[in-house]
Amino acid sequence: MKFENVDCVGILGAGVMGGGIAQNAILSGTKVLVRDINDEALEKARETIVNGRFGLRVGLERGKHTQEEYDWALGLLNFTTDPGDLADVDLVIEAIGGGDTGKLEDKPLKLKVWAEMEEIVKKDAVFASNTSTFSITDLAQATNRPELFIGMHWFSPANIMKLVEIIHTESTSEETYQLIEDVCKAWGKVSVKVKDIPGVDSGFIGNRIMGVARREAMKIVEEGTATAEDVNKAMVHGFRWPAGPLPLGGPGARSGWQ
Ligand SMILES: NC(=O)c1ccc[n+]([C@@H]2O[C@H](COP(=O)([O-])OP(=O)(O)OC[C@H]3O[C@@H](n4cnc5c(N)ncnc54)[C@H](O)[C@@H]3O)[C@@H](O)[C@H]2O)c1
Repeated sequence: MKFENVDCVGILGAGVMGGGIAQNAILSGTKVLVRDINDEALEKARETIVNGRFGLRVGLERGKHTQEEYDWALGLLNFTTDPGDLADVDLVIEAIGGGDTGKLEDKPLKLKVWAEMEEIVKKDAVFASNTSTFSITDLAQATNRPELFIGMHWFSPANIMKLVEIIHTESTSEETYQLIEDVCKAWGKVSVKVKDIPGVDSGFIGNRIMGVARREAMKIVEEGTATAEDVNKAMVHGFRWPAGPLPLGGPGARSGWQ
């Protein structure tokens, strides 16, 4: 499938990531259908997309888009609680978490939902997971379309951060990879190519490197070498990092930056 043939993108999960991905897509002119398990989650997502800290209204006030673009983008935003409504979408991006276990990254939940999508969604639609952790090969096994299955790992806030890691497996077709690369380009993202390691829940590039930095930073604080504030200050002023490796409270990726 080519990007110009993508009429509608289904997004699973209307949380921090799903909402941000939806906002990015509609502002780029792509119609989306966002699915979550209840109306409250969908209502919250709409509110964040429109009135959130990085929402459309703030963008309008700051002159990032015109009233016309704002109205047009909102007209491309659709919600549903019925998974059956995703039958005809061309691309599904999965950003679910917090199921029965409440876990952000829940492999059994993702496998269950992908198996459900396999039954519902048309056979030539591409499936992309926004997992931060799990092997894409492992998730693809819940479906019968390994050549159409791929990882599309966004960073939070999804409508602001430029990077998307595209994770391909041994079975992902060149056409599928090209489609996702084109989606990233059309949606104003910078993509990098990552090869999946079957059975290894690694964190790909960004989270893997940040994990090492965070662990070392925590060790420095725990052993009493320096305070968390000074660890962050060292990296910001010594290496020009935009922020230090240690969270110091306040809103962050998990909260949706509200
Ligand atoms: N938060 C981040 O910084 C970040 C960054 C990159 C990737 N991710 C990944 O994205 C995924 C979602 O993370 P989040 O931060 O948006 O979580 P979140 O808790 O904000 O949102 C998850 C949403 O998924 C919904 N959901 C649960 N089961 C569902 C189902 N069967 N169908 C549709 N929706 C369902 C929940 O109701 C919830 O609204 C996770 O896999 C996470 O690891 C998160």
